[in-house]
Amino acid sequence: MIKHPLSEFKNNRLLVSPSVLACNFACLASELEAAERAEADMIHLDIMDGHFVPNITFGPPVVASMRKYTALPFDVHLMLVHPERYIEPFAEAGADHITFHIESECDPAAVVRQIHALGCSAGITLKPGTPASAIEAVLPEIDMVLVMSVEPGFGGQKFQPEMLKKATEIRKMLRRIGSHAHIEIDGGITHENVRDAAAAGVNVIVAGTAVFRAPEGIRAAVAELHDAQKALPKEEPGS
Ligand code: DX5
Ligand code: ZN
Repeated sequence: MIKHPLSEFKNNRLLVSPSVLACNFACLASELEAAERAEADMIHLDIMDGHFVPNITFGPPVVASMRKYTALPFDVHLMLVHPERYIEPFAEAGADHITFHIESECDPAAVVRQIHALGCSAGITLKPGTPASAIEAVLPEIDMVLVMSVEPGFGGQKFQPEMLKKATEIRKMLRRIGSHAHIEIDGGITHENVRDAAAAGVNVIVAGTAVFRAPEGIRAAVAELHDAQKALPKEEPGS
C-alpha cells in the first residue's frame, strides 16, 4: 500500500482534515466520498480506548474498511493509554499519519521511531492543560504537532481560545530547531475561529461538527475553512 505521510505536504498550505467523529457512522462510505468531493486534504480518525479518554470509537478493522472508499491520507489521532501496542495495526489498516498523546504511558521517542519505520509520518499531541515544554524533547523527530483546543474525548465542544498562544509558542519552538513540521488544531473549530488559528501559526485544521453537520453542506464548509489560507503567516522560507 502506498502511503502519503504528511511530510509530503508543505506547511505553508492550509490543510483541512474533517473528523469522522461527527459523521453518520452507519454511512461511513458515503461520508468519506462526500469529504473527498468537497476537496478535504485528509481524513481525521479519532481512536479512543475508553481509558485514556472516557469514550470509545473504533479500531483497525473499521479503518481498513474505510480505506477502500477514499484515496485521502488518513490522519489518525490515537487517544490510547498504550499507543505503542497499536501503531502497527493502524499502519497496516491504512493510516498515513499517526499522532499520539504525550500524556500516554509510553516512551515517546520509541513510538516515533515505530511510526516512521512503518512508512507513516508521526505526530505528537498535548491536552489543553499540558504545557508546550512537555513535547520539547521529541520535537526534532516530529512531522506534526497537534494542539488540542478541547479536552479530548468528544466532538462538539467549545473551542478554548487560549490554546492559540500555545500554537504560536510551538511554532517558535519549531523554528528555533529549524523544523518545518505542521501544526494542527483539533476541537471546536468553526468558520468563525479558523482564521485566528491560521494567524497563530496553525496550518492543519481538524473539524468534525463544522464539516459533517454543516447546515450549508460539507462542500461549502470545507471551502470556508480553506479560505483561512489567507490568514497564514507568510514567513517560513524553505518550508
Ligand atoms: C476530540 C477529537 C476531535 C473531535 C473534534 O477528542 O479529537 O477530533 O472530533 O470535533 P469538533 O470539530 O466537533 O469539535
Ligand atoms: Zn482528534
